[in-house]
Amino acid sequence: MIREKLLYVETFGCQMNVSDSEKIVALLSKVGYHPTQDSSRADLIILNTCSVREKPEKKVYSSLGRFKGLKKGGRRLILAVGGCVAQQEGERLLENIPYLDIVFGTHNLHLLPDMVRRAEEGARLAETGFIDSEERLDLFPVEDGAGGVSRFVTVMQGCDNFCSYCIVPYVRGREISRRSAEIIREITEMAERGVREVTLLGQNVNSYGLKSSGEPDFAGLLRQVADIPGIERVRFTTSHPKDISPPLIACFAENVKVCGHIHLPAQSGSEAVLARMNRGYGRKEYLEKIAALKAARPGIQITGDMIVGFPGEGEADFQDTLSLMEEVGYADLFSFKYSVRSGTGAAGYPDDVAGAVKQERLSRLQELQRKITLEGNRSFVGTIQEVLVEGVNRRGDQLFGRTSGNRVVNFSGPPSLIGSITEVAITRAFQNSLLGETRTSRQLAAASGIL
Ligand code: SAH
Ligand code: SF4
Ligand code: F3S
Repeated sequence: MIREKLLYVETFGCQMNVSDSEKIVALLSKVGYHPTQDSSRADLIILNTCSVREKPEKKVYSSLGRFKGLKKGGRRLILAVGGCVAQQEGERLLENIPYLDIVFGTHNLHLLPDMVRRAEEGARLAETGFIDSEERLDLFPVEDGAGGVSRFVTVMQGCDNFCSYCIVPYVRGREISRRSAEIIREITEMAERGVREVTLLGQNVNSYGLKSSGEPDFAGLLRQVADIPGIERVRFTTSHPKDISPPLIACFAENVKVCGHIHLPAQSGSEAVLARMNRGYGRKEYLEKIAALKAARPGIQITGDMIVGFPGEGEADFQDTLSLMEEVGYADLFSFKYSVRSGTGAAGYPDDVAGAVKQERLSRLQELQRKITLEGNRSFVGTIQEVLVEGVNRRGDQLFGRTSGNRVVNFSGPPSLIGSITEVAITRAFQNSLLGETRTSRQLAAASGIL
């Protein structure tokens, strides 16, 4: 009997890479590779990489070093690198890493089965060509048939924004939107399998459809998705502030299925820094959009990304970032120290904020955000929240789910609640989650005199 071949995939970076890894697993299962969690047993190891900052990029190289040892002793193991580092480095990776077999870029997932077959025969190969047409999005399975309550669906790929610090437009290529009919078909099938919530995914979802003829804009797509029977919640990520349009804001006011949360990275609160970042909006404009979103959906939860130590950022600029954070009241914030990416616009500016200053600003920013997040979480205590129940928590003793505003809630209840939207009374707030109880458990407690 032929032993089944095992595939181990390690994923770095953003949700787009997580989705791509799912597609890679689906593609390679068709040629006999089954996923394993144990890299030491794998016949094929794939690193799906990220090059957005220095730190994630370094992680890739340390993982590669780890897997080098597995090749010793003559065991046949194919080692492949995909994703954004692969796109950036291409053939150079094969030249520099003698034990590496395959390099595949962000537009070349569909070539993998054939590349793996050739590597099985001893070849070493790299494919990193870009495909800048709609065909790109039809080249690999979009759906793996998996169930679950909440799923991500890619609606567009690539980025044309060229923020001056960012490598993504270079490693993901031009913005391409998937055809809406395809998206609707895929989500309809998901809903039939029990999926209740979808998150529409793209590097810059708000510009969906703007460059393709005969397609709706993003607000139109959102409404179509919300109309799919069985879909009870729709989310989307990531949004660019300059493309938040009045029709999109109206979706938050009019459509209850559109969740009360938006990830809207500001990157900085300083007018001067935003201009050098080439973000296409200023502080005032950003705050106006936030105000319009808050007016359209009272209580909307806002999350974002922030960079500290961008070239030329002085203490006053940084203070503007802190004051913007307080004004917005972010539910949560991902924050990063600026790191130069070669080939980007900002690589031409001197990286003139000292490492220690970047670190100190990051710590201050994160301390402030922890305070704002905890205050935000505490404001839910005593409220009733609608929670989409996603599953049993890691400890196995409680259910967990998310509020419309994307806060995690843990509570006791029967597993039969998984997949449904349940009213939960919030009883305690922590830094990263909320604790609650369902009406039934409250009634039981009341009946037994505990409450
Ligand atoms: N619009 C994108 C953002 C991708 S990059 C999306 O689809 O999510 C994620 C975040 O990394 C950015 O929002 C930015 O805050 C941060 N980032 C990107 N390049 C960076 C750099 N050179 N240094 C520090 N942080 C960076
Ligand atoms: Fe990078 Fe800016 Fe594009 Fe986001 S919008 S991926 S930060 S270039
Ligand atoms: Fe990283 Fe590429 Fe995503 S650089 S953040 S994995 S698009």
